[in-house]
Amino acid sequence: MSSGTDLSRLEDDVLTEVAGAGDLAALDAVRVSAIGKKGRISELMAQLGKLPAEERKAFGAAVNALKTKVSDALDARKATLETAALSARLANERADVTLPVRAGAEVLGRIHPVSQVLDECIEIFADLGFEVAEGPDIETDDLNFTKLNIPAEHPARQEHDTFYFNPKPDGSRLLLRTHTSPVQIRTMQNKTPPIRIIAPGRVYRCDSDQTHTPMFHQIEGLVIDEKTHMGHLKWVLEEFAKAFFEVDNVTMRFRASHFPFTEPSMEVDIDASAIGKPGQWLEILGCGMVHPNVLANCGLNPEKYQGFAFGMGLDRITMLKYGLPDLRAFFSADLRWLRHYGFSLLDQPTLGGGLSS
Ligand code: DAH
Repeated sequence: MSSGTDLSRLEDDVLTEVAGAGDLAALDAVRVSAIGKKGRISELMAQLGKLPAEERKAFGAAVNALKTKVSDALDARKATLETAALSARLANERADVTLPVRAGAEVLGRIHPVSQVLDECIEIFADLGFEVAEGPDIETDDLNFTKLNIPAEHPARQEHDTFYFNPKPDGSRLLLRTHTSPVQIRTMQNKTPPIRIIAPGRVYRCDSDQTHTPMFHQIEGLVIDEKTHMGHLKWVLEEFAKAFFEVDNVTMRFRASHFPFTEPSMEVDIDASAIGKPGQWLEILGCGMVHPNVLANCGLNPEKYQGFAFGMGLDRITMLKYGLPDLRAFFSADLRWLRHYGFSLLDQPTLGGGLSS
């Protein structure tokens, strides 16, 4: 059975181990081996009952005193180690506030030129009192063609190089819209004039070269009320062109053309000296007065209502304004291209602050 000398040796051993524990895990191992349930000091307590009665009291008190001493030493060492661990963490995780701020998404991200130009157009037309309308990319034959006065055998259907879906059992076919003009129909079917909308969106044609991609973007415009005439159309387009190209004057040329859904119809060119290319006319859009058949197809009385429509290539005016040579690069998802030609997220186009600053 343990004697006084054994106890003092055990005390020395345990206290040396406590002092030598280099981290909290090692210290806890010492605690378990000394005063844990099966620890060396706890075992001594368990043996107390075997001692003669006259020794029991003194030995019990000595073991208890040892246990208290060891507990106190463990607590003290634990506090020291915790302080050291905290200091090490603080030293390690110290932030150097003089370092430059790391660039976040708002700095690294870029707005695609087409998105930027769309925002510019919305800003300009909103200022002229137009709302933004939308329609689906997958359209019916009826809305993409028939209601726009392009009947089944009309040659314009061939000109559009349409992507068709498989026919349904009833023979009707869905298609990828070939222009944003069906949004005119959707709007006239659902609203009573006055109507003043633009409809930007994706359109699809089976066509691909340097200036054509199978998917591209258009912006449609539609104004319907009882009095709107061609003078208004010309004024709106001129105001748009000046604001968009950010110049005081733009000379425009209206050429007679033909679209089934307008009568008369025109194509519009701008004198490219406005954008630093003197001596060239650049076509930017098609337009005209909405055909009476189209109004009637949408349930509007052509004797009462009239107005104009226009359709322009968003990618095309983006290329003209920002001097981008190859349309295909717009949709090639090349980050180097986007970093070079893209716009900062904070570069919101506004008429007050300047469209492109
Ligand atoms: N939808 C025509 C196209 O894609 C463009 C167009 C021309 C739209 C004249 C119009 C318009 O609204 O009046 O070629």
